[in-house]
Amino acid sequence: MSLNSSRVHELPADEAAVYRRLDPERLPHHVAIIMDGNGRWAGKRSLKRFFGHQQGAEAVQYVVETASRIGLPWLTLYAFSLENNLRRPKTEVNFLMRLLRTYLSNNVQRMNDNNVRIRYIGRTEDLPVEVRERMQWAAEATRLNTGTTLTLALNYGARSELVDAFRSLCAETQRTGLRPDDIDESDIHRHLYTAHMPDPDLLIRTSGEMRVSNFLLWQIAYTEIYVTGRLWPDFRGIHLLEAIEDYQRRERRYGGLSDGTESDDVASLPANQLVAGR
Ligand code: IPE
Ligand code: IPE
Ligand code: MG
Repeated sequence: MSLNSSRVHELPADEAAVYRRLDPERLPHHVAIIMDGNGRWAGKRSLKRFFGHQQGAEAVQYVVETASRIGLPWLTLYAFSLENNLRRPKTEVNFLMRLLRTYLSNNVQRMNDNNVRIRYIGRTEDLPVEVRERMQWAAEATRLNTGTTLTLALNYGARSELVDAFRSLCAETQRTGLRPDDIDESDIHRHLYTAHMPDPDLLIRTSGEMRVSNFLLWQIAYTEIYVTGRLWPDFRGIHLLEAIEDYQRRERRYGGLSDGTESDDVASLPANQLVAGR
């Protein structure tokens, strides 16, 4: 990604200061975020959980704007899990659905101003029809934007994504005669909801929970994970940039050795020197 495709001059001064510490050649291509802690944010203020969700929706737009200004190609936000849909009270689920519709209605213009394209992953076909209609409208209205692709994970679960992928791969094997022995990782990748996207480089989770809660299990095999105690409604663009700064301090080895590490020439050692400690 080059600086030319970004609008870093539009960053507010505090974000620009963090951005200047980053290496523009090593920005992540794909950042995924588990937006957690809305309920706790509200609880700390003796407010109903709904207020936390409302503030959480506000935070989304700040983060999307910063992502688009730095030219991040892919931003994926875990907004509503399958388990949230199944396990939370109907009143909360209904509120979240209403909030999603309002968020889309109020923000499509800003997405267009920021050249952001919106898409979705998850079992979205099971969401209420009026929500699906608004989602489709927003996707259509932002379809031609070429900046950040904002993907909302809605009614999403990674295990059900894998189930859906294996179902469609099985159907393909029956149709085409693809043999089980010929199936490789790329075949599974092709059938995921995220087939068109690179794997996340960085996964952020807010509110301090050290778990992935059924998010992108296949795709995060080598993703760098950053957990912050900050609750999602308090998360802003500057915190995204701080997470990226932390990411740039990491060394991604993908199971290999650090750059410049000399490999032991084991073959030339006598067998008794292979015993630990000798
Ligand atoms: C994240 O906040 C938003 C959704 C899961 C929809 P939570 O609602 O999980 O907030 P906490 O974790 O209870 O604080
Ligand atoms: C993960 O948060 C799901 C989303 C952020 C949408 P949860 O609050 O549902 O996760 P758990 O229950 O703490 O694992
Ligand atoms: Mg939570």
